[in-house]
Amino acid sequence: MSHHLLVVDDEPKLCDLLVSALTQNGVQVSSAGNGLQALAILELENIDLIISDWRMPGMDGPQLLAEVKARYPLVPMIVMTAYSTVKNAVQSMRNGAYDYIAKPFDIDELDITVNKALAWRDILRDNARLRAELEEHHQFDSLVGESPAFRRVLQAIDSVRDSTATVLITGESGTGKEMVARAIHKHGGRADKPFVAVNCAAIPEGLLESEMFGHRKGAFTGAVADRVGRFAQADGGTLFLDEIGDMPLALQAKILRALQERVIEPVGDPRERKVDVRVIAATHKSLLDAVAAKEFREDLYYRLNVFPIPLPALRERNEDIPALARHFAVTLAAAAGKRINGFSAQAVQAMVAYGWPGNIRELQNCVERATIVATGKQIEEQDLPAYLFHSPVEPRENQTLPGPAVPEDLDATLADNEKNYILAALHQTHGVQAAAAQLLGISERSLWYRLKKLDIHVDKIAR
Ligand SMILES: Nc1ncnc2c1ncn2[C@@H]1O[C@H](COP(=O)(O)OP(=O)(O)OP(=O)(O)O)[C@@H](O)[C@H]1O
Ligand SMILES: [Mg+2]
Repeated sequence: MSHHLLVVDDEPKLCDLLVSALTQNGVQVSSAGNGLQALAILELENIDLIISDWRMPGMDGPQLLAEVKARYPLVPMIVMTAYSTVKNAVQSMRNGAYDYIAKPFDIDELDITVNKALAWRDILRDNARLRAELEEHHQFDSLVGESPAFRRVLQAIDSVRDSTATVLITGESGTGKEMVARAIHKHGGRADKPFVAVNCAAIPEGLLESEMFGHRKGAFTGAVADRVGRFAQADGGTLFLDEIGDMPLALQAKILRALQERVIEPVGDPRERKVDVRVIAATHKSLLDAVAAKEFREDLYYRLNVFPIPLPALRERNEDIPALARHFAVTLAAAAGKRINGFSAQAVQAMVAYGWPGNIRELQNCVERATIVATGKQIEEQDLPAYLFHSPVEPRENQTLPGPAVPEDLDATLADNEKNYILAALHQTHGVQAAAAQLLGISERSLWYRLKKLDIHVDKIAR
């Protein structure tokens, strides 16, 4: 990787010497006589490393360092000082200089420091790039859905994102709990700080405390080095406690204390640390049931439940299924290098009619599979997994299912069923009859006839 260095010194001779000594294959060197000139060059060039004198007329080393830290935090700076001012060097390190080198120095010594600083710069730059890529990737995860049930969720995200209130997201598995948590973080005031997720159900009970709060080297067998816990990692940002319902009781008291007093105590270290974290918790379990069963502390429940966001199951927002399916088809097909532009009407109908016990995640998996097997530009009914078309209750072997109860009045029961199905279809299509007919697999004419027969008034259906 080619690098561009900037040497800053009020002594032109030293500048020239450094420029010629440091210039080599893949390294370009510019020079400036004081801090202001250096800033002008930084403005124009893509500088990777600054090597600067401490005492200079005009803008001096400390001032330049402060400006660089504020404007170009990824550019390391090496400070050159005279022996007599090593105290300044120490101060410069405290203020964020990468390293210092005492004058007079020989060029090999400087070379070593420069190479280390450039390697550091490369790491910082790679990190920044990866982070930007991740951000971009997350934009794919835009929240899809316009149903009234989902709009309530979006409004809740909007009203809580800028506060630091604790949020409790509940919902069945696959309803988008983690995605909502990330959206709150990403659109809130802590977006540039870390989002740290902990799955409380996935970490063995014995390790959870040190995972959350960190530990001191030697605190227990296996603690071979100090460890920073998740609370401390999330300092300034957001801590996402996923599956909080699976947090062991013993640890719940410690979590409660961290939430209440905003301090943590690493394992084996009696000193408390202050932390500033916004907590978002999620669970697919009913915490109230867990409280009743004495598996979850009631005080912690109330601490967490400051701002509850319940997520609807997909079957409670099946108006969103076509848009979600389309979103997955387009993004997943593009990732697989295929072009898919939608679904056949029958395929949509089958997906809308299915119950999706695994919610959005199940829909996503189903669409992913369909984009792989589809041969045309559209996903057809036969590209969808067969289980979508079966009743969700699979008859077990050697077990005869009881037949349906015999109705007292067959005609009235059939008419009732017919009416319910038609109303459901009309609700889903916001009263658009052509779409409802398509959903039901009948002609518009047939639907019109049935509406009359069953005395259904479309204009009374909520739009
Ligand atoms: N509104 C949405 N729009 C688009 N994609 C979504 C939406 N909600 C969830 N997803 C996608 O559905 C999948 C499941 O979401 P997520 O992991 O957030 O659910 P979860 O409730 O945390 O699930 P689990 O309980 O299994 O952990 C993810 O791939 C996510 O990207
Ligand atoms: Mg999850």
